[in-house]
Amino acid sequence: MTVMGTGYVGLVTGASLARLGHEVVCVDVNKDKIRLLKSGGMPIWEPGLEDIIRDAELEGLLDYSIDAAAAVSCSDAVFVTIGTPSSESGEADLSALWSAIYAITPMLPDDGLLIIKSTVPAGTCEQIEAYLRKRLPLSSRIAVAHNPEFLRQGSAVRDFLVPDRMIFGAANPETHNRLEEIYAPIQSPKIKCGLREAELIKCASNAFLAMKISYANMMSDLCDALGVSVDAVAEGIGLDRRIGSEFLRAGAGYGGSCFPKDLRALMALAEREHLDMELLKATEAINRRRVQVIRKKLESVFGGTLNGKHFTIYGLAFKPNTDDTRESPALKIYSMLQEAGGRITAYDPVVTCLPNLQIDLATDMYEAAAESDCVVIVTDWDQFRDLDWGRLRQLMRSPYILDARNMLDTAVMAANCERYGLHYMSLGRPSVTPDVPLTIG
Ligand SMILES: NC(=O)c1ccc[n+]([C@@H]2O[C@H](COP(=O)([O-])OP(=O)(O)OC[C@H]3O[C@@H](n4cnc5c(N)ncnc54)[C@H](O)[C@@H]3O)[C@@H](O)[C@H]2O)c1
Repeated sequence: MTVMGTGYVGLVTGASLARLGHEVVCVDVNKDKIRLLKSGGMPIWEPGLEDIIRDAELEGLLDYSIDAAAAVSCSDAVFVTIGTPSSESGEADLSALWSAIYAITPMLPDDGLLIIKSTVPAGTCEQIEAYLRKRLPLSSRIAVAHNPEFLRQGSAVRDFLVPDRMIFGAANPETHNRLEEIYAPIQSPKIKCGLREAELIKCASNAFLAMKISYANMMSDLCDALGVSVDAVAEGIGLDRRIGSEFLRAGAGYGGSCFPKDLRALMALAEREHLDMELLKATEAINRRRVQVIRKKLESVFGGTLNGKHFTIYGLAFKPNTDDTRESPALKIYSMLQEAGGRITAYDPVVTCLPNLQIDLATDMYEAAAESDCVVIVTDWDQFRDLDWGRLRQLMRSPYILDARNMLDTAVMAANCERYGLHYMSLGRPSVTPDVPLTIG
């Protein structure tokens, strides 16, 4: 097998296919990445990935190359896991994907299988198939399939090998069966459908999850206004099996390389069909407003202005257990605080440099809070659950904690506030103020 692209999806796909017993070559145009992988390094941080990569390498089942032609020409199947970011119009930018297709087409074996794993708008795989028919000899039996990926960064290896479901999009049962053979050891429901249906399932799933998050955030704002807790409301809603409790937690909003761009791509696709995706527009607008909700919360304790205050941002990755900061809410909050005249120090357990941004990054979470007026928790890394609150309070200039992920238990924090004179705020839950007078820096 060849896997084109060694990003979050490509590396997990390559290593996992090797785990299933296939011989895999991972190809990338980024020479530095391939050099790093060949020398035993890891270009991304993903729990469990390095272990399965090393196992596969030891078994001689996984290799890396920049030579797509050589890898593709002797492959039974070629997986494409190249990035499909948003273009300015919101549509998916398929330029990198198409340039890979153009480059490998002459090398595709006659009876090969081209599996698009990248998230693409409905209709893309049919266009790829039509292009191949035009370029390849009539005798070629090459087939195109769409097998969207649903892994979550942070639990990607498990999600790949133990998925909720697998989607096999293809134009005929023969191609469905070939996908089934590749994934034979994986036990999960396998949905066999057409190419366009498979493409739509992926974007529609992400849009639905984003919508659930925005719904929880919308309710969180109402709970704030009414002075009640969104925790109880979300629990009460989520226990209804028709709704489910996952993705119903209020917080700083969604980010990452998938939800925002897949939502935009779906809206752009619908627009071409003269359809208005009102629900998705609202989902996006609610998500965009989260930064302002956080700003207002902070202004309410700092007399209406954040100018001159020192903020500590805990967490830069868009979610815990990844080093990915693409469209991370933390970066949006960082910019908002900066624009408001705040001084910011940030800390993240695995994001230790952001080459294109001027960010004051501390290497220790307590050091990051020194002389701080407010610690803002933006990524719910586990280590922020067990902070030494007494030590933190001593280091800080003012006592404010804003938990923008609602990750801490309010009863536990009430005890900590009482004990250490902290002031704990979260979203859609009543703030906890200590009985002792607060010193505002
Ligand atoms: N990241 C996720 O959690 C996730 C989950 C499901 C689906 N997806 C989808 O999977 C796709 C890949 O996402 P990602 O996060 O892995 O992207 P990524 O940006 O991490 O990786 C893409 C890789 O493709 C490489 N590449 C670009 N052009 C190439 C070419 N011509 N030949 C070979 N390699 C090339 C890049 O150098 C990069 O290493 C996207 O469509 C994304 O929407 C991502």
